[in-house]
Amino acid sequence: MKTIALYSIKGGVGKTAASVNLAYLAASREQTPTLLCDLDPQGASTFYFRIQPKPKHSSRKFLKGGKRIDKAIRGTDYPNLDLLPADLSYRNLDIELNGFSHSRRRLKRLLSRFDGEYTYIFLDCPPNITLVSENIFEAADIILLPMIPTTLSMLTYRKLFSFFEESGLDTGKLHPFLSMVEPRKRMHRDTVREMMANGVNLMNAFIPYNAEVEQMGFHRAPLVHYRPGCAGAKAFANLWRDVKTRLK
Ligand SMILES: Nc1ncnc2c1ncn2[C@@H]1O[C@H](COP(=O)(O)OP(=O)(O)OP(=O)(O)O)[C@@H](O)[C@H]1O
Ligand SMILES: [Mg+2]
Repeated sequence: MKTIALYSIKGGVGKTAASVNLAYLAASREQTPTLLCDLDPQGASTFYFRIQPKPKHSSRKFLKGGKRIDKAIRGTDYPNLDLLPADLSYRNLDIELNGFSHSRRRLKRLLSRFDGEYTYIFLDCPPNITLVSENIFEAADIILLPMIPTTLSMLTYRKLFSFFEESGLDTGKLHPFLSMVEPRKRMHRDTVREMMANGVNLMNAFIPYNAEVEQMGFHRAPLVHYRPGCAGAKAFANLWRDVKTRLK
């Protein structure tokens, strides 16, 4: 089992778009059981897969774990792909985590029950750096960081890297990739150059700014499923190839 987190301190950078498409690619291309955990109270991944969380599911039940999680998992419309939906109660995850001993490792422990059941677990993370994030850092084998090429993205990346170093976390888990790139924008080109000059270990694949990705909200399905030939979908397929290489 490999746990792949889509994470960023920043909001609106493409975490959910990548989670939905990569989870679909893992399930369909590798034909292997895959779980997407929506950890964001906004429930965007849950929305894209047209899933309603069970009314009784809550952050509290999620953190207690065991069979309560099994009951909350829903099948998607696609073979091999299940989803653990989020709902608004997940806004309390941070406070509730505090009540557990080894509160930084709770998520890792909760997910360990799926070892052998799922080959890939994707975590669609909320934007922030909180106790939930620290759980994600412990649980994930690989942390994919979407970065829009701006100066602020560089700053937050450096902060996260320092946080990992200071906390004794494995910086080798951090895998940034460019998101919503507009090569025609000079600022984007310059920032990408600056990132590389500053030793940011960017993945080869990048996701361009693509209106088709934006329209996923109307289709409520992974772009790679209903329009695999478009530029955005091809970019997600390249990213999945890179992720597999880095997982090795
Ligand atoms: N490559 C892209 N090209 C164009 N629009 C995109 C692209 N990726 C994402 N978007 C759009 O940008 C917005 C934010 O994307 P997304 O929800 O994936 O980001 P996020 O990091 O998960 O946000 P949040 O932090 O709020 O969870 C959405 O409206 C989405 O449709
Ligand atoms: Mg999101």
